[in-house]
Amino acid sequence: MDTVLPDGEENLIVLRFGEAVHAYLNICPHAGRRLDWAPGKFLLSKGALVCAAHGASFMAVSGACIGGPCRGQSLRRVSVRVVDGEVCLID
Ligand code: FES
Repeated sequence: MDTVLPDGEENLIVLRFGEAVHAYLNICPHAGRRLDWAPGKFLLSKGALVCAAHGASFMAVSGACIGGPCRGQSLRRVSVRVVDGEVCLID
């Protein structure tokens, strides 16, 4: 999803597991590429989000890289909450 943040327009990854929602900038810390394999299509395997460019794996619930060329780094989290069933950005 595209949205406008204080730093400008960004593409976000929003993962929802029931009431739990996690959102990250769609920018891989390895080489700055988008993680989606096709626009809006992501690989989520065993609780990990896999970057399309070089295969880095990130925990869906924390954004921490657990495998691949940027192990130890993290996706940049975006603060969100659910209001009346909809995901909303928090400042
Ligand atoms: S840009 Fe994501 S693993 Fe290289």
